[in-house]
Amino acid sequence: MTLVHIRREDRLWWVGLDRPDKHNALDQAMVDELDAVLNEARREPSLLIVHSTTPGMFAAGADIAELRDRDADAALLAINAGLFERLEAHRWPTIALVDGPAFGGGCELALACDFRIASPDAVFAQPELSLGIIAGAGANWRLPQLAGLGTARRMLYAGARVGAQEALAAGLVDEVADSAEDLNERGRAMAATIAKRSWRALELTKLALRSRRPATTTFDLAAQALLFDGEDKHDRMTAFLERRNR
Ligand code: COA
Repeated sequence: MTLVHIRREDRLWWVGLDRPDKHNALDQAMVDELDAVLNEARREPSLLIVHSTTPGMFAAGADIAELRDRDADAALLAINAGLFERLEAHRWPTIALVDGPAFGGGCELALACDFRIASPDAVFAQPELSLGIIAGAGANWRLPQLAGLGTARRMLYAGARVGAQEALAAGLVDEVADSAEDLNERGRAMAATIAKRSWRALELTKLALRSRRPATTTFDLAAQALLFDGEDKHDRMTAFLERRNR
């Protein structure tokens, strides 16, 4: 593993996003590593804590350099959406610790976890529409489900950046730590509380709650495939990579 740092404390797995030079942008290689971790972790009872190894930066989203070159066919592969489905389907609870920006796919990654604990400097945003695409890896339905339609609309349509306290009030995060340094302890404490309970009952409760998920994934996939082939997306992503309009 080169882009994901794993540390195990008994049944608690710390899954650290570890691509500091690109603000943890999720590229195919990182997706593959995270998939490998999920495959391994599901073999025996485990709680996952998804965090960043870089203080002050959770994740800046899907890798725009790779996204720019993906076509409709690649969109239908559901690379990030599929990973987040598998993360959501981890057999036991998962917690995201968010310090700094969780943008685009970074926000969607946090949304796919069962819980989110934010540092006071956490910021959540879905900038996809400024790049000519939709937030196709779950935000279209996980965001309104957690934070309500109003917050989801402001984030998706208007690109609103939502800070830790606002996220807490909206239900987008479950707790705000006193400081970034306090974040790991808060995650560990939440995990310890959950780990005292029955693993089997936890697993079955997760399955029960999953039956409440809305089924808009198919629409998101088809819509993203349409947009991935567009010139608008290509031009906007090129502008980001060449640092225009920023
Ligand atoms: N994909 C690919 N590369 C990314 C990236 C992404 N999503 N986000 C950041 N990077 C890269 C930058 O290109 C830059 O690389 P370089 O040093 O080789 O030029 C490096 O990471 C640092 O990013 P930079 O933008 O210089 O940092 P910043 O501190 O000025 O800004 C952000 C931080 C998060 C505000 C900014 O990086 C950003 O807006 N990222 C894109 C967010 C986004 O639109 N995500 C949705 C993707 S679908």
